[in-house]
Amino acid sequence: MLLADSWQINRKVVFLIVMNIVQQIQQPIQNEMELFEKKFHKSMATKVALLNRITYYIVNRKGKQMRPMFVFLVAKMTGEGEVNERTYRGASVIELIHTATLVHDDVVDDSNKRRGFFSLNALWKNKIAVLVGDYLLSKGLLLSIDNGDFDLLRIISVAVREMSEGELLQIEKARRLDITEEIYYEIIRQKTATLIAACCSLGAASVCPDDIILIEQMRKFGELIGMAFQIKDDLFDYTDGPIGKPTGIDIKEQKMTLPLIYVLNTSEPKEKKWLINSVKNHNEDKKRVKEVIAFVKVKGGLEYATQKMIEYQQSALEILNQFPDSVYKEALHTMVNYVIERKK
Ligand code: IPE
Ligand code: IPE
Ligand code: MG
Ligand code: MG
Repeated sequence: MLLADSWQINRKVVFLIVMNIVQQIQQPIQNEMELFEKKFHKSMATKVALLNRITYYIVNRKGKQMRPMFVFLVAKMTGEGEVNERTYRGASVIELIHTATLVHDDVVDDSNKRRGFFSLNALWKNKIAVLVGDYLLSKGLLLSIDNGDFDLLRIISVAVREMSEGELLQIEKARRLDITEEIYYEIIRQKTATLIAACCSLGAASVCPDDIILIEQMRKFGELIGMAFQIKDDLFDYTDGPIGKPTGIDIKEQKMTLPLIYVLNTSEPKEKKWLINSVKNHNEDKKRVKEVIAFVKVKGGLEYATQKMIEYQQSALEILNQFPDSVYKEALHTMVNYVIERKK
């Protein structure tokens, strides 16, 4: 290898080490993300003073913004490095809907913390949180309608419907405590994976509206990432790391997730009875919940869920690998890894 070549490579390696992983992912879409933020803030504007105060509170506590990042990276990978106004609007709609579902989800899960701060229901009570969630949802849908992005609106509306179904399916199954691994996958596909699937199909559709095969391929790619994403989120609940929202609340809310489902299915009848009784009748007892968490850990529930998460991540990468190399593909690759390695 020529000295000059090796110097080039070394410079790239040093550069990549200095940048953190999120900066690495964002590098090829930096301008887009900056402009997106401005547009996103504007998309929430309202004349109602109380609403304005609340939306101000929301935009000042932004999340990881992974969904718009998927929209822009997929659009650029499939659109020869170009994005357009449809891509920006699509990214805003998705982030508005994501924010709306988090606001509602914290009411449903009775959770008082989000992104390291109080959740809306904790600060302004449930009534207001429900209405603000509806407001954000309507603003999102109107952004598409007012601009005639009907193909994108279809993608988004399917995701909204599926997310509601997923959250309800979860409540239904939780009540009966008879959830199988298959049903768990169906719940997380609906409540989480469909929105990430929508990000990726919408990113492609915004630049290649007629390429049905490509749009479907990207939808599948996003769905697989979304599955890994929610398994990771469910694993977080078994940790006590600072992730910006409460941990250990899934059992309290009788939410059976993969680590617990696996352990239930592989335990002795006596242990199984104790587990079910704990979740059903002692889910408010902090000490008992801690014991259940410890039991799930000892029985390999976290390892099993991690293995399944990696399987989904790998399947997503298989789809990505079918695309020609580009900086956008590379960033998406890093992003797919980030989904399962992230710390919050
Ligand atoms: C949280 O999503 C909701 C789930 C689907 C698990 P994120 O982890 O992307 O939330 P923010 O936007 O970064 O806060
Ligand atoms: C994801 O489920 C909820 C949504 C799809 C809105 P969780 O209830 O586990 O999400 P977090 O942990 O509250 O973010
Ligand atoms: Mg929740
Ligand atoms: Mg969770």
